[in-house]
Amino acid sequence: MNSNRALVLTEYGGAHALKLAAVAAPVPGPGQVVVRVHAAGLNALDWKLREGYVRQAFPLQLPAVLGIELAGVVAAAGADVTRLRVGDRVMGPLGGLGAYAELVAVKEANLALVPPSMSMTAAASLPLAAVAAWSSLHLAGPVHGGQRILIHGAAGGLGGFAVQYARQAGAVIYATARSSHMDYVRSLGADHVIAYDRQRFEDEVRDIDLVLDYAGGDVVARSWAVLAGHGAIVSAATPDIVASTPAGRRGLWFQNTPDTARLQAVADDVVHGRLQSKVAAVVRFDDLPAAIERQRTGSTPGKTVATLVG
Ligand SMILES: NC(=O)c1ccc[n+]([C@@H]2O[C@H](COP(=O)([O-])OP(=O)(O)OC[C@H]3O[C@@H](n4cnc5c(N)ncnc54)[C@H](OP(=O)(O)O)[C@@H]3O)[C@@H](O)[C@H]2O)c1
Repeated sequence: MNSNRALVLTEYGGAHALKLAAVAAPVPGPGQVVVRVHAAGLNALDWKLREGYVRQAFPLQLPAVLGIELAGVVAAAGADVTRLRVGDRVMGPLGGLGAYAELVAVKEANLALVPPSMSMTAAASLPLAAVAAWSSLHLAGPVHGGQRILIHGAAGGLGGFAVQYARQAGAVIYATARSSHMDYVRSLGADHVIAYDRQRFEDEVRDIDLVLDYAGGDVVARSWAVLAGHGAIVSAATPDIVASTPAGRRGLWFQNTPDTARLQAVADDVVHGRLQSKVAAVVRFDDLPAAIERQRTGSTPGKTVATLVG
């Protein structure tokens, strides 16, 4: 239990800035367990942190271990741990950084149980994206049948789950995605898919009740024109949305926080076939630096997961 390989950011920069290195094995503090990590989900935040693009919002003490979500087995429990036992299969967001390591200390409160029929790889794809999609979809108010929702970045990690939850609520879903991913987004339940590399969404949609921004760039600025007067834009990808919201309009910044009850409900939805999680790629721990770089430059619909065991 003493050796602990981790993916460490040594300085801000390109792929070379991430190194596999030995770090101290964690000791569980009060209310924490140590998880032996089997799989960890990759996120757009990884390369944004690596490059230093989000250092204002996420100031790092370098060297720092990256990774924000994991699935694994409880290897040790600290004081005041009441719900989990050594040997339990668990998944969750860290609510901070450090998931790309063999052993990680995590708050018990952040962890949900992995259902027996679910693989660790599938479990690691859920904690961030599925919960953030559900929470951001509902941030502006209850979602109801017939509501017209425009989802930007619908082929991505968050977008894929948001399309499915909006479908379940009976919304009319407009979604933007790269042309090569249109069929995938339709298969998740979008009614109208707009290829952002071929069409301008402003020419295709209007009177939208709710816009979800999982893409960033200029999509928020362009979306006010298609939003109904009473409508709202919720962004997970454009941090200045509140400051740039025009007078009299409603623009909300979404900030994800761990929600273990919601994560357990997500896992239940997946096990019972009500929700699909597309694990687009599974990479080995040694290949993480290259895989994180591909997240920046490439275009893979769904989630990428790194395996540390098996
Ligand atoms: N605020 C929070 O708490 C929070 C939490 C989680 C995630 N996030 C952020 O939310 C965003 C989405 O995360 P994610 O994990 O879903 O990322 P992701 O998997 O990389 O998905 C982003 C998607 O946006 C698409 N896209 C890029 N430009 C677009 C455009 N102009 N129009 C429409 N779609 C476009 C991409 O398609 P192509 O790859 O085909 O170009 C990709 O499918 C990221 O910015 C992430 O940092 C924020």
